[in-house]
Amino acid sequence: MPSQKLLEKLNEQIKHEFFSAHYYLAMASYCSEKSLDGFANFFIAQAEEERFHAMKFFDFLTEIGQRPLITGFDDPKTDFSSLQEVFELSLEHEQLVTGLINSILEVAQEENHYPTVSFLQWFIDEQVEEEATMSQLLDKIKMVGENSPGTLFLDGELGKRKFSAE
Ligand code: FEO
Repeated sequence: MPSQKLLEKLNEQIKHEFFSAHYYLAMASYCSEKSLDGFANFFIAQAEEERFHAMKFFDFLTEIGQRPLITGFDDPKTDFSSLQEVFELSLEHEQLVTGLINSILEVAQEENHYPTVSFLQWFIDEQVEEEATMSQLLDKIKMVGENSPGTLFLDGELGKRKFSAE
């Protein structure tokens, strides 16, 4: 049986993942307004992925016989000054989420709650990917600069992204 502390952390992560979806949707909206439809598509797919993450926590709590608690969150930042800022904030956000996942894992390990330890392994691996994706895109944006042919090339590439739960 997980402790109250562990349950609170698992429940809070549902909120953090849904917040992430909102945050990325705000970034999609910014890109869309600039007619960067490929970047917008990238962030819309990212928002779908975050909702998938939230539902993984929801389903896990249900599977271990616990009722998921759904709570609200503050508005995300909705205005950005540049694509570079968008990717800096995305990377920063993924680093924050990695810290949150690590802190749940620490509690699960202290309690020897093996189902949670095992469940979180997927997220540990996922966060390595999430940080790498944002970091690489940030590097590329810095390389090509804003409003360049390189930006349009990246926009075309990111327009191909589709989220799949597989
Ligand atoms: Fe759910 Fe992008 O971490």
